[in-house]
Amino acid sequence: MNVPAQLIEALRQAQHVVVLTGSGVSAESGVPTFRDAQTGLWSRFRPEDLATPQAFQRDPKTVWEWYEWRRSLVTEVEPNPGHAAIARLEQQVPQLTLITQNVDGLHQRAGSASALEFHGNILGNRCFDEHRVLGDDELTPGTPPTCNHCGGYVRPDVVWFGEEIDQGVLDTALTACARCDVLLSVGTASEVQPAAGLAELALSCDAVVAEINPADTPLSSQVHFCLRGPAGELLPQLVAAIEEE
Ligand code: OAD
Repeated sequence: MNVPAQLIEALRQAQHVVVLTGSGVSAESGVPTFRDAQTGLWSRFRPEDLATPQAFQRDPKTVWEWYEWRRSLVTEVEPNPGHAAIARLEQQVPQLTLITQNVDGLHQRAGSASALEFHGNILGNRCFDEHRVLGDDELTPGTPPTCNHCGGYVRPDVVWFGEEIDQGVLDTALTACARCDVLLSVGTASEVQPAAGLAELALSCDAVVAEINPADTPLSSQVHFCLRGPAGELLPQLVAAIEEE
């Protein structure tokens, strides 16, 4: 694929780049996406049974075990060339804000200095009742474990359907998207709010926006550039093109 020359130029000129990622960026590492037919998690499981506070209250054991399974998946895989290219892009531009909807920690493992984890981190733990983040020494093992402070159940430190995004994370993301010169939307179906609105905010604030995704999304018709293909192939090409004289 030829990377559009105007996109390369916009990235070379940019003072601030936002990269917004979704589960598609981890697909080539072997982490399942959510909405892809057949392979997506939501084609095999019902989110209302597994990814809401009500589901956890109804059946904490099933929800905990499902997250334990997903935790084992992410610890067994490695970052792919798409994650690595984003970490390299950070070295090429004056400022880069990485916002990820992914909970798998693969961006950090690929060398990205920081990632705003919009939907939390699946390897972290939190007290269900008191919300505090818990270290390994603050919980008693069980299915699910219990909190050593209050005795209540421990849950994974992720954002479930119906829950609010952490206010600090949301504010930082909104500010970055309102101020950036270029936004790359990578591997997200752009269907879940408020994350899906971030690229639209950047567009309304006159940023150049490019989508990198093998498939069409609701964002596709609005962006300046659609790069059609897998992130693990296209992102390294994009980053290499910026480096070329
Ligand atoms: P989705 O499963 O909704 O979308 C994945 C997107 O990745 C699709 O548009 C695919 O076409 C694209 N894709 C697949 N393989 C790709 C590849 N190799 N390279 C690039 N793109 C690829 O996942 P998200 O948009 O991340 O939230 O979903 C957003 C949120 O919905 C998730 O964070 C999760 C989920 O429910 C919560 O759990 C709160």
